[in-house]
Amino acid sequence: MEGLVAEGGETIEEIEKGPVRDVMLIVGAQKVEHYEIAAYGSLITLADQLGYADASRQLKETLQEEKATDEKLNGLATSEVNRQALEAAAEIEPAQ
Ligand SMILES: [Fe+2]
Repeated sequence: MEGLVAEGGETIEEIEKGPVRDVMLIVGAQKVEHYEIAAYGSLITLADQLGYADASRQLKETLQEEKATDEKLNGLATSEVNRQALEAAAEIEPAQ
């Protein structure tokens, strides 16, 4: 997780403010969400196997929140911002 957060910091430092940076930050946020989804999924399995029903319920609730956040990020990723980023990137490096 520290690596993912550091990666986000590098994105902010290395890419100038604009649609390309926005897209890269959305990508970074989705990496974090997917990491959390994997972790909560594994913890739910362990809690279920150990008979920790309350912990399992709480973890499942959190997992649903993580999935909802991921869906919101999917919505952002498929919105206008991706098209703007592609146009901005094309201006920086013309397609070959
Ligand atoms: Fe999250």
